[in-house]
Amino acid sequence: MAEQQFLWKLAWITGASGAICGEIARRLAAAGVTVAATARPSDRLYALAAESERIGAFPADVLKPEELKETVAKIESALGPIELALFGAGMYVPFDIRNIDLDGFHRSMALNVDGVINGVAAVLPSMLARNSGHIAIMGSLFGYVGWPGNGSYGASKAAVINLAESLKLELEGTGVAITIINPGFVDTPLNAAYDPKKKLYVMSKERCARKILEKLGGRPYEIAFPPQVEGFLKAVRFLPRRVSLPLIRWFTSRMGA
Ligand SMILES: NC(=O)c1ccc[n+]([C@@H]2O[C@H](COP(=O)([O-])OP(=O)(O)OC[C@H]3O[C@@H](n4cnc5c(N)ncnc54)[C@H](OP(=O)(O)O)[C@@H]3O)[C@@H](O)[C@H]2O)c1
Repeated sequence: MAEQQFLWKLAWITGASGAICGEIARRLAAAGVTVAATARPSDRLYALAAESERIGAFPADVLKPEELKETVAKIESALGPIELALFGAGMYVPFDIRNIDLDGFHRSMALNVDGVINGVAAVLPSMLARNSGHIAIMGSLFGYVGWPGNGSYGASKAAVINLAESLKLELEGTGVAITIINPGFVDTPLNAAYDPKKKLYVMSKERCARKILEKLGGRPYEIAFPPQVEGFLKAVRFLPRRVSLPLIRWFTSRMGA
C-alpha cells in the first residue's frame, strides 16, 4: 500500500463500510490520518474500524440530517476539527423505460443527493467558523451525460456535480475547499447489476482509491478518471445535442445497450 503524506489530521468519511471509501479510509489511516468512519451500523463498519487504531466507527444514516449533525458534534468533541469530509455513501439502480423502478429512482436520488447535502449541512458550519476545511463529494463520470440504463444513477450524479459547482462558487474566499470526484466504472458491489460487457475501462477499488488520493491533497476542484472515458464523455457533453445524442446511441448500440 502506497505511503503518502497528507496535511489533514482528521477525515470524516461516509460510505466508509463500502468498497471505494473503505479503501480510502485504510490508505488515509496507514498514512497517519485519523478517520471517523460513517455508514449505518453493521459488521462491515466495525470490522473496518478494527483494522486500525486510527479508524473510529461513527455509525449514522445519511438520510437523517439531525443524526448527521449529532455525529459531527460527537466526532469533533472526541477527535477535534474535521479537516476533510468525504461524502461517498451511494447506490446504483438500473433504469428501464418499459418498467421504471420508481422506488429505486427515489431511493437513489435520496441517497446520492440528499445524503450528500445532509452531510455538507452538518459539517460546513464548523468549517466556515474556522475558515478552513475540505469537502469532497463522490460523483461519477456518468453524471456528465445521459446514458442508456442510467436514468436514476446519472440524474443523481448530475445533481451532485451541479451542487458542487454552486458550492465552489459560494465557498470562494472562505478557506473551505470543495472537490468533486468523478470516477468511471469501479469493480464494486454497487454496480453488480450492470451488464459487464457494457462496463468501459473497469478499475479495481484499490486503483480508484489510489488515483483519488494522489490528487485530493492538492484540493483540486475536480478529480476525474480514467482519462479515456473522461475525455470521451466530456467531448460528447460539449457537442450540440443533435450530434451528441446519435453518437451516444451509436456507441452504446455497438456495446449491446
Ligand atoms: N463503483 C463504481 O463504479 C463507482 C463509480 C463512480 C462513482 N462511484 C461512487 O462512489 C461511491 C462509493 O461507491 P462504492 O462502489 O464503493 O459503493 P458501495 O461499496 O456499494 O458502498 C456504498 C456505501 O454507502 C453506504 N450507505 C448506503 N446507504 C446508506 C445510508 N442510508 N446511510 C449511510 N451510509 C449508507 C453503505 O453502507 P451501509 O449500507 O452499510 O450503510 C456503503 O458504505 C458512491 O457514491 C458511488 O456512486 C462508484
